[in-house]
Amino acid sequence: MLSKHAPPAAPAPSIPADAGSNQRRMFVKSFGCQMNVYDSQRMADVAGREGYGETERVEDADLVILNTCHIRERASEKIYSELGKIREIKEARAAQGRATTLVVAGCVAQAEGGEIIRRQKAVDLVVGPLNYHRLPALLEAARAGGGVVDTDFPVEDKFDFLPDASPEAIRARGVSAYVTAQEGCDKFCSFCIVPYTRGSETSRPAARVLDEIRRLADMGAREFTIIGQNVNAYHGLDADGVAVGLAELLARAARLPGVLRLRYSTSHPLDMSDDLIRAHAENPALAPYLHLPIQSGSDRILDAMNRRHTARDYLEAIDRVRAARPDIALSSDFIVGFPGETEADFEATLDLVEEVGFASAFAFKYSARPGTPAAELRDQVPAAVKAERLARLQHKLEAQRQAFNAATVGRRFGVVFDKPGRHEGQLIGRSPYMQSVNAVVDSARIGDMTEVEITGVKPNSLTAKVVSPPGAGAS
Ligand code: 5AD
Ligand code: SF4
Repeated sequence: MLSKHAPPAAPAPSIPADAGSNQRRMFVKSFGCQMNVYDSQRMADVAGREGYGETERVEDADLVILNTCHIRERASEKIYSELGKIREIKEARAAQGRATTLVVAGCVAQAEGGEIIRRQKAVDLVVGPLNYHRLPALLEAARAGGGVVDTDFPVEDKFDFLPDASPEAIRARGVSAYVTAQEGCDKFCSFCIVPYTRGSETSRPAARVLDEIRRLADMGAREFTIIGQNVNAYHGLDADGVAVGLAELLARAARLPGVLRLRYSTSHPLDMSDDLIRAHAENPALAPYLHLPIQSGSDRILDAMNRRHTARDYLEAIDRVRAARPDIALSSDFIVGFPGETEADFEATLDLVEEVGFASAFAFKYSARPGTPAAELRDQVPAAVKAERLARLQHKLEAQRQAFNAATVGRRFGVVFDKPGRHEGQLIGRSPYMQSVNAVVDSARIGDMTEVEITGVKPNSLTAKVVSPPGAGAS
């Protein structure tokens, strides 16, 4: 299960079995996607069982976990500079007789394995995303020194072994929760590293997902985002051994006490089934928000990306969703400068953006990921061209986002406020359309569905006033 690497020059100091009355502390930092945020919480739950309390100061941490992202070059380069800084802290702590166990988890861990320890000797453990349930044994081995790597693809499902979060941890995480329903991806888009780092697509059994939601709701969570790399391909078994799709999972989740609002992310256009689209008309808890990446508006590039759909297929899916839920807020991901992308291909992307009208979207410069088919393609687009296209696309997307936000002024809807805002007396929550909303609200209303009217637009949020009497619980 574990593979050992050559011991570093100076063996890592081990944490004494009995650290005395001082509780051991962990610092967990998450990079990248929502699934990493969720996984980081689950790792914190495991380490919590091992006696670690959380700290926000890395200097105070006996255990440091970086949960890394490998999706683009910049994301993984950040990790090495972060590790360099932590190495200095680790050395300073060691000089005071305090040991630090440094763990690299996530997709960089999976992709680079032992190379990480070769590049940064301060790292004690490298663990891939599918192996977090093995953390207790791995940490023990790591504390013994020598550098431990576990990037196997296990036969067992980590979710069957990960401990539940403690009630205190759930309460501390607040009103808005992620729940993983599906992990991995079988789509193999030619640019993407995920099928290699997260493995093939697996769906958790429906009862497990629903139990987790029920438990979180019992502890005060109210808004749930069901996550997976390809979540709309979800097909978890129910108790009778029958596969349940995402629409049915969302319908069952909506019936659980305390569940006020549901979202799901991320979806693939090929898996926008009729019943999922119908759910947007029929499931009262399902937010009118859909993140549906397209990547490019050019069929030639979509084909080279192995997306297995055309721009027309995407537009048809959008038409169907809008027929079910006319006010739906649409979001997407775009890659500019994929190998071979011409100015005409890029303009097809701009045209598609114009045709759809997005509420928000993310645009990225293509970054070759070693081991993916697109990294081998000739005809890579020069950096300056990518930068120029990214700026043009982002300009257009930003104008659409501002227009969408401006159009919500004067509208009324429910917001589940989840935390204090920057100004005294203000709370922050999300609109049904995923915009940040600030309003002066009694903090006792955190976790309630509060009816607001949008009064103004700021660059990255909306301002609102409450229109229902406190405690009325409008929806
Ligand atoms: N280069 C640039 N962007 C990428 N993405 C995934 N792989 C790459 C890559 N190699 C983007 C896609 C995806 C989002 C999560 O990250 O747009 O939808
Ligand atoms: Fe990054 Fe993708 Fe891995 Fe998430 S799944 S951590 S976005 S590479």
